[in-house]
Amino acid sequence: MKITLETKPIVTFTEDAIVTYLFEEPDPVQGRLAELDKLTGGLLARLAKSGELTGKPLELTLVHAPAGLKTARLLLVGAGKHEQFNTATLRKVAGAALRYLKTRGVHTVVFALREGDLTEEAAQAVTEGVIATDFESDKYKTDKKNDKFIEAMSITGHGEAQRASGEKGIARGRVVAESQNFTRDLVNEPSNKLTPVILAQKAVAMAEEAGLAIDVLDEKKIADLKMGALLSVAQGSVEPPRMIVVTYTPANAKPGAPVVGLVGKAVTFDTGGISIKPSEGMEKMKYDMAGGATMLGVMRALAALKPGIKVICVVPATENMPGGKAQKPGDIQTAMSGKTIEVLNTDAEGRLILADGIHYAKQLGATHLVDAATLTGAIVVALANINVGVFGSDQAWTDKLLASAKAAGEKMWPMPTDDEYREFIKGSVADIQNIGSGKGGGAITGAMFLKEFSGDTPWIHLDIAGTAWNDDAKPWLAKGPTGVALRTLVHLITTL
Ligand code: BES
Ligand code: ZN
Ligand code: ZN
Repeated sequence: MKITLETKPIVTFTEDAIVTYLFEEPDPVQGRLAELDKLTGGLLARLAKSGELTGKPLELTLVHAPAGLKTARLLLVGAGKHEQFNTATLRKVAGAALRYLKTRGVHTVVFALREGDLTEEAAQAVTEGVIATDFESDKYKTDKKNDKFIEAMSITGHGEAQRASGEKGIARGRVVAESQNFTRDLVNEPSNKLTPVILAQKAVAMAEEAGLAIDVLDEKKIADLKMGALLSVAQGSVEPPRMIVVTYTPANAKPGAPVVGLVGKAVTFDTGGISIKPSEGMEKMKYDMAGGATMLGVMRALAALKPGIKVICVVPATENMPGGKAQKPGDIQTAMSGKTIEVLNTDAEGRLILADGIHYAKQLGATHLVDAATLTGAIVVALANINVGVFGSDQAWTDKLLASAKAAGEKMWPMPTDDEYREFIKGSVADIQNIGSGKGGGAITGAMFLKEFSGDTPWIHLDIAGTAWNDDAKPWLAKGPTGVALRTLVHLITTL
């Protein structure tokens, strides 16, 4: 999709549709909307009076052949209460508008920003919203709806004075949203088309294109490095594991700057292993590599945005299968760190592979860690599909991430990691056990296990099990993978 910034008057556009938005207030026809009302001979005031135009969140009002304009359509989108309006709303408004229009034969669009929204952040949010909404999970459909796409969008509302900042926002938004779609594409792949080896190949292709350094450890190297926790999960499958390491090194690193380690769970299919999952809904477990895919997407974006911070991305990739060589409940494994683990449930495999991933990221020089994982069903119970669960060991580092989540328009909620919870994973026959002996707190138990391997290094764990996949389509986003946490992490690292 071509996205440009245009500063010419609204009456001169000849595109298929103009989109703008209004707020839920007693008189929604104000400011630029009043100007548009004048141009169209009082059309908007009439619609408002009839109760068709209220400004309620994501209300869509489509007008054909609006008088006074050269475009074939005018789409008015409700943006909710004015005082609650922010870039997160704007992203959804833009996404919902384009999703609606692209199924109606529209190929070219003008998105008119309202007075006060002529910022870099607004241009970025609109760009992110429309590129993300353009992603469909139809790769394996032979009858793709090829006529349903938006070819070009102009963002207008800016004057020449704001051109530079607007264009900067568009460029940045494109990098972020295209990286998000790269992640979603990986998450969508079924496990027969995305084994650990294939994931590593795709990471290599991405890194080469983006100009990032990459190192893929095969099963032999993984064994040489004594990554016993990762190997214990992989041993039940005929597909060999991979440890994928992507590194971004800035041209001129800020002196004394942190080295960020991003660790992502990539279980390309989670059957549960010998502690096998029920068959109903098991097909969804192809998305158990979403954490890894997210981190690879973040690296892709960073390569283009070039922050002054070194970032090391570590993605342990494996299947979790109940093969003849599979580990069994009660088996004791030694992680790369030297800690011994009693595996009481082979379905709690994400924490095992992340244990080695986190340890390795530290060994490679990470001073600040973030991991992302579809780690527990318990986080879905706690926060549903609305918030990412955020667990941290360092208040300042966690606060930074939560502030970035806010700025990037992603919902994240802090969860506890008090010492008392450590008791849950204390081992009886090994140092620790991979499931809790306490009652409840399943998502926290998983986090406490990971915390053991982060040691004194400031660490954050993002449990994205509830948020990485949309079971139902949203007005602004297709059903399927969401690419959640990518925008937050890109914001975090580019503002350190
Ligand atoms: N990949 C799952 C977590 C999961 C569950 C993600 C549901 C998405 C939806 C993870 O490996 C797992 O199976 N966790 C177990 C842990 C339990 C055995 C302590 C779980 O959540 O049931
Ligand atoms: Zn599992
Ligand atoms: Zn899993």
